[in-house]
Amino acid sequence: MAKEFKRYMITTALPYANGPVHIGHLAGVYIPADIYVRYLRKRGREVMWVCGSDEHGVPITIKAMQEGTTPQAVVDKYHAIIKNAFARLGISFDIYSRTSSPMHHKTSADFFKHLHDKGVFIERTSQQLYDEQVGQFLADRYVTGTCPHCGNEAAYGDQCERCGTSLNATDLVNPRSSLSGSAPTLRDTKHWFLPLDRMQPELERWILTEHKEWKTNVYGQCKSWLDQGLQPRAVSRDLSWGVPVPLPNAEGKVLYVWFDAPIGYISATKELSPEWEKFWKDPDTRLIHFIGKDNIVFHCIIFPAMLMAHGGYILPDNVPANEFLNLEGDKISTSRNWAVWLHEYLDEMPGKEDVLRYVLAANMPETKDNDFTWKDFQTRNNSELVAILGNFVNRAMVLTHKHFDGEVPAIGPLTHYDQQTLAELPRITTAIEDNLESFRFREALKEVMNMARLGNKYLADTEPWKLHSTDPQRVATILHIALQITANIAVVAEPFLPFTAARIGQMLQLDAPQWDSAGRADVLPQGHKLGQAQLLFEKIDDTTIQAQLDKLQAIKAHNQRMAAKVEPEKPAVSFDDFARMDIRVGTVLEAERVPKTQKLLKLQVDTGIDVRTLVSGIAEHFAPNELVGKQVLVLANLEPRKIKGIESHGMVLMAEDLDGALRLLQPSSPMTSGSTVG
Ligand code: 2FM
Ligand code: ZN
Repeated sequence: MAKEFKRYMITTALPYANGPVHIGHLAGVYIPADIYVRYLRKRGREVMWVCGSDEHGVPITIKAMQEGTTPQAVVDKYHAIIKNAFARLGISFDIYSRTSSPMHHKTSADFFKHLHDKGVFIERTSQQLYDEQVGQFLADRYVTGTCPHCGNEAAYGDQCERCGTSLNATDLVNPRSSLSGSAPTLRDTKHWFLPLDRMQPELERWILTEHKEWKTNVYGQCKSWLDQGLQPRAVSRDLSWGVPVPLPNAEGKVLYVWFDAPIGYISATKELSPEWEKFWKDPDTRLIHFIGKDNIVFHCIIFPAMLMAHGGYILPDNVPANEFLNLEGDKISTSRNWAVWLHEYLDEMPGKEDVLRYVLAANMPETKDNDFTWKDFQTRNNSELVAILGNFVNRAMVLTHKHFDGEVPAIGPLTHYDQQTLAELPRITTAIEDNLESFRFREALKEVMNMARLGNKYLADTEPWKLHSTDPQRVATILHIALQITANIAVVAEPFLPFTAARIGQMLQLDAPQWDSAGRADVLPQGHKLGQAQLLFEKIDDTTIQAQLDKLQAIKAHNQRMAAKVEPEKPAVSFDDFARMDIRVGTVLEAERVPKTQKLLKLQVDTGIDVRTLVSGIAEHFAPNELVGKQVLVLANLEPRKIKGIESHGMVLMAEDLDGALRLLQPSSPMTSGSTVG
């Protein structure tokens, strides 16, 4: 028999604050968790749900590099966007924190220190990949290469996204630095390793024998890792961004982001409640991690291993990981901008929060990857939310206002059909409960809609609109029953469609009914005064859908243009050919337009060797005064050429982006003019 728990500790993957949240995140993690938590709260269970931004790790520093800003600026920007968008969608975390918080720095550093002092870690000097050009150790997403397991050429140094295997950077075949594109070398460096190999028997016992009930995809992934044999895993990194390793002589070392991030769940709980320990240490608490499938190993093996090694903590009782959601047949991708971004959706589709929640829950990738299409979004809105749910509630409300002045009419003698209909309410309620308790959200939502279908069928079969003049008492009974069904819907729909449930509640003048009202035929007393009828959903027309499809089409076209424009590599040159080129760092002293030309600028550049004149075709991209004082790279020994009568002694090197934009090539910090490049 399943263990009875006293309370629930719910966590959802901390999204990286390196970009906004999209529908894939929502369908995979936050919508199921929100449904589950709202359901638990409605049942009066004690529950705590924590989340926050994951603000450390290479994803953040890479984004900062791409945006030409600091990691702090990146996390501040995206934390605000993410937090706000979640709130607008009604995602009801008890706290949405961030891993840059002082509480988190302290909690994760203390956790590390505790494991260190207990002698858990292996301290090991090993060879790690190093980018000689940039002068930095490379780990995680700073390295890409070929996955040794599946051959994916774009695997990251910590994980292959194609086959899901968790990797060490040194496992990659043909590794490349994401910073410089160069092939890394190996250098010695000291790190702290969690001895997962030694913990394998304990982990195996816990997962393979005690958690056979986990979802097949989760259990299967765990089993395959265990079958491969676990390896010690480094829990520190040579980086400047992160939680510093809290030991003497550990300068330049921070905690591995996957070490600190899950501790973020504990930090957030501490931040919120002085009673945090009962949520993390009492075996009567049921800990559940909601995540996407790419996070399974971290939540089912590494974090539990950390908790076991620490001692005193409970372990997750379930990890209902979902598969991925695709968009219009293509994998969602932040870098290709192939996504429906939550904050944009909320701006573009005001008042349609529940439509998105509905479509994502109905299409949730519970057992396999699923596809989001805008056509399906429209159909589900028009044929399900409008035609079934909205239509039923509206008919019950409008008829009651019309015939009974907006008061719940008296119930008279019941027919067999009335009794059958009412008996469906507890049956459907139980089905919803069973499905939710087993994390089958799509099925649960179908049952919610079955309640609205039940109501529609009941009205269609009993036709109260035909009976008003002949049998008003019968009409009263029918509408009484229809209103009880409406009240039931207000209860059971709330976890899925909280905005809609609140509006039904307003119409019924029913204030936040608890779950135990569901299944009952007496939620609304006779004579109860109803509020005004309002339309719950409106049809979405083809133009609105087309606008979204056009937006995606434009993104696709842009991506294709970009991909098509990458020029093929030129034939090989010898090192000697290359070495003959004399490239120098120069400083622009003066810049002016060449008269009667569109494109040309005449520059005076200090090359260190001399001050010389260069003519450059960049006038459409840079104003002359933008260039003065800037450092540039100059091919100094290019044969002089006369351009529009001006002799140009060399060439300023530029990079042309695939979209045609020109950028100066500059040293990353100022250098003396005349410095050589090569
Ligand atoms: O995959 C991700 O987006 C990670 N930021 C999830 C972290 S979950 C947790 F452990 F914090
Ligand atoms: Zn792979």
